[in-house]
Amino acid sequence: MRTPSTGEPAAPLARRLRTIAEHGRCHNFHALPASALEQERLPDVSFSGSALDSFFAPRGVLAEAQELAAEAFGADRTFFLSCGTTIANRIATEVLGRLGTGILLDPRSHQSVHFGTNASPAEVAPLPITARGEPDLPAVQRMLADGRYGAIALNAATYEGIRLRLTEVLTGIAAVAPETVLLIDEAWSAIHTFSPELAEHSALPVARRLRDRGQPCPALLVTQSAHKTMLALRQAGYLHLVAGQDRRMGLESALRQAIYRQHTTSPSWPILGSLDTAREHAQAHGAQALAHALELSAEFTRALGDSGFPDDRGSAENPCTVTDPLHVRLRTGCGAAGSLQRYLYAEHDVYLPRTGPDTLVAHFHIGVRAEDVRALLHGLESWPGDRPDNGSPDGPRESGAEPRIGSVLNGFLLPYPPGVPLTRPGEVWTERHARLLAAHRRSGAEVFWVAQD
Ligand SMILES: Cc1ncc(COP(=O)(O)O)c(C=O)c1O
Repeated sequence: MRTPSTGEPAAPLARRLRTIAEHGRCHNFHALPASALEQERLPDVSFSGSALDSFFAPRGVLAEAQELAAEAFGADRTFFLSCGTTIANRIATEVLGRLGTGILLDPRSHQSVHFGTNASPAEVAPLPITARGEPDLPAVQRMLADGRYGAIALNAATYEGIRLRLTEVLTGIAAVAPETVLLIDEAWSAIHTFSPELAEHSALPVARRLRDRGQPCPALLVTQSAHKTMLALRQAGYLHLVAGQDRRMGLESALRQAIYRQHTTSPSWPILGSLDTAREHAQAHGAQALAHALELSAEFTRALGDSGFPDDRGSAENPCTVTDPLHVRLRTGCGAAGSLQRYLYAEHDVYLPRTGPDTLVAHFHIGVRAEDVRALLHGLESWPGDRPDNGSPDGPRESGAEPRIGSVLNGFLLPYPPGVPLTRPGEVWTERHARLLAAHRRSGAEVFWVAQD
């Protein structure tokens, strides 16, 4: 392919990225754009072993950096990963699958957890969920008590900004089955550890509190996308281990083996280095930066209330869940989320992720400034509303056919984002699924059909 005007070889993706870089500030309410925060550039080297450190068996600077991170977060061990929480979840689910016990799987989990457990030899059952859409703790306790399930995968910080009340959840689980091993996906809340207010529901501070008080705490594998909330490069992820002394060596060695099997053998040293600087930054400035982000989010919500634009704050204030005050969800009316998303980006340089057919979410990460909030409010006030010609075409699908009502599926049907399966293999396709899928499509989601392994 050649550029028509010059006949030179074309690099269309690179050209587009350069255009974006030259365009100036985009008001990004998705994840922290590290480039906007004057990140120190670390060299992209191919060294390992003696020249720098071994990625799979670190003994030098990487080991030291990981220890500092474990101490800062309150973990027994922390591993740096350069392939996102997607790989961290695959690693953690592999460990759960080798424990020799059944796994309870939170259906609200990211696709990486679904795919990981689906590939596991363990028996996997859905974690009971209440009519309000939150984990049903008493029902979970009953399932744990019969001894068949010894592992749980939980989504504790969803794309929409719903967090689990982990003190209640962890103590409830420890009360009936203290030997349980939990995968806790905190993709969207890595930095929360560094804010007194937000740490209240964060896995590692909660585990530390329980242990300090001498209360039992289950073993935890905590996965975090540092790149979504901290000053780290894209794909930078932490995988933390918290385990009682008696479990620690077994789980640590299982994690090292799983990392060896799943991770790229060419880790990105700039990404790994950014996990080190992100931790350093969070320790020095995280509390202050989060206090500012909370202030901006509260100001925005007040202004939004005055404008009459509906949000659904507080709707997840249930016995087991709580809304993350840094994620403000905006209701658009059925199927209109994609239309508002495209309008804001095209007309106002505002980028907001779509999390469902009628929901966008404004994530007040630590890179958001007052000028971004003004741009978002102005964009929302100017929105002319959903128009019939605003629909986006269907996303890609590997299978052209829509499932028949009543048929049993042999794969996952996934609207992306948020990458949470509508259905898992073995489920029956119903009218409700069909309506939900149509609404996702109408609002601009890409829909993927992923066949059973
Ligand atoms: C809950 C959850 N877990 C895991 C992931 C995957 O994270 P990453 O993009 O770092 O691979 C996401 C991505 O959005 C997510 O929402």
